[in-house]
Formats: sequence, structure tokens, C-alpha cells
Amino acid sequence: MNNEWLDTVVDARRDATARIVVLDLVRPDAVEFPEFEAGAHVDVLVDDADGLVRQYSLCGPPHDRTRYRLAVLAETASRGGSLGMHRLRKGDRLRISRPRNRFGISGEARRHLLVAGGIGVTPLLAMAHALEASGAEYELHYCARSRGDSAFLDELEHNPRVRLHFDDGPDDQRFGSATDVGRPDPHTAIYVCGPGGFMDFVISSALAAGWPAEAIHKERFAPVEDADAHKAGGAFRVRLARTGGEYGIEEGQSVLDVLLAHGVDAPYSCQQGICGECIVRVLAGEPDHRDDILTDRERADGMFTTCSSRALSPILELDL
Ligand code: FES
Repeated sequence: MNNEWLDTVVDARRDATARIVVLDLVRPDAVEFPEFEAGAHVDVLVDDADGLVRQYSLCGPPHDRTRYRLAVLAETASRGGSLGMHRLRKGDRLRISRPRNRFGISGEARRHLLVAGGIGVTPLLAMAHALEASGAEYELHYCARSRGDSAFLDELEHNPRVRLHFDDGPDDQRFGSATDVGRPDPHTAIYVCGPGGFMDFVISSALAAGWPAEAIHKERFAPVEDADAHKAGGAFRVRLARTGGEYGIEEGQSVLDVLLAHGVDAPYSCQQGICGECIVRVLAGEPDHRDDILTDRERADGMFTTCSSRALSPILELDL
């Protein structure tokens, strides 16, 4: 992982719900953070000792560079990441990467429809801040199990552009794709983030209603399939155009696994096909795309995720 870590200090910590903690990070030297665009996330080195890294969206206003705000849901099946974040207290130190973004606000749309499920509200909250500041037309739909499971209600409740949808609320406030997403509009971009099942529902409903795939922007917190499912498949070889190195990829290995094992300085972060950090260009061969981030246009342009995708041809040549 080619991260330049930034040292930060927890300046404020509050329990937004029983399972969501909100952390405000500042720089120890009081310098400003790097600029970030709404929708961006950072890698967080949750545990220095074992190198545990997790990705969290920045959810504060992008114009405020004095602090970065993260909100973390305590996952019931946590492998240490979210629970480690919940243990942080004011004054604790934390190292994070510079922000990265593959979930930015469309520059082409005139209207922006933000659809959040649960903790998926975090990148969309930053987008709402940015859209509000720029005077853009937007609507934020925040779906949660109940009021008690909803973070940031103090910020959102009185905003006329925000619609709250609680699973345990009256029928007329439930989220409905027909009413809340509606018919396709060439000037509107849809942004979806939340649990996999929720995202699949919103995306498939929008596609079924006739929205083009390019109008739907999405960010997943977890891969669609089991994280190791992409390693299944036949063996193939990769050739690196810049160094001439050639390596065999066996079933059960990812391209990234093999490159790192051979000391290749390949970019990566999540290793789950969801962050986009490992994208490289394919120069020859036929890829078998298994990520959930590249658009059709990016795939046609030769983009390829080394952590999750494989090859349909015996050899792939990569721009590495
Ligand atoms: S490392 Fe995140 S998509 Fe490959």
C-alpha cells in the first residue's frame, strides 16, 4: 500500500446512536488538512501493530479543512476495524491517508438525488454540504431502521431538501423508488450508498424505471460477493509492460497478490474491488472484470482492478 500517512488527533468524539460514533480529527500541528471533494474517503490505520486498515468516508463539510469528520458503525461481524474505531477517545492519535475519491459529484448534472441507507449517509452528507454551499439543486433521502438508528438528525431534520424514511415509521414516509426516485430525467444524477441489499434495490429499481446506468453513481462498503470469490477461476499470466516482468496467476490468487509477492510496487488499498485504488490499464488481452466500481466506459477504456479481476485470455499485459 503506497500511503503517505497523516498524523491526526481525535479532537471530539460523540455517540450519535448506540452503534454509530462520530469522530472529529485534527492535525497535531494545527495545519490544515488536504482539500477533499465530497464523496471522498480515507484509509485509516486502525491498528498500527497489525497494520489493520479500513476505509471511511469523510462526512464533514468539504470547505472545512481544520478537521475531518468520520462516522463509524459498530459492525456486529467486525474483524476489529469498527470496534477499534469505537474505542478511540478524545486525544488519541490516529493515522490516515490523504483523501481519495471515486464517488464525486457529477459535473454534468443539474440536479442531484442522494439516496442513503444507514451508515451510507456519510459520503452523501458531505455531498449535501457541498451542494448546499454551491446552491445546486439536490434532494437527500436518508433511510434508516428507526429514529434511534439515525445519525446526524440534528443537521438533517430541518433541511427542507432532506427526506427521512424510517422502517418503523408510518407508511407514507417509507422510501419508494417510484415516488422518491421517479422517472428518468436527463439532467439528474443519482447517488446511492448503503448496505448491499439496499443499494441493489435502489439501483435495480432505477434501471427498471429506465434510468441509464451512467446516471447512477454508487459506492459500496463491502463487495457484492464474498471477498475471496473473485479469486476463483482459471490460471493465466500477466506481463508488465514497463518492467517486462511476467507472472503466473493461479486459481486462488489475485493479480495483486502475485505482484506484491514479487515486490512489484502496485497501487492498492481495500483489496476487495470497492475502492478503485488498484486500477491499472490493460494494454493487451481480454479482462474478466469482477469489480463493482468501474463503469462500462472505464472498462471499454481498458481500466482493470488488479485486486479482483481476472483474465479470459491466457495472458494480460498491464501498464505497470
Ligand atoms: S484495492 Fe480497492 S479496488 Fe482494488
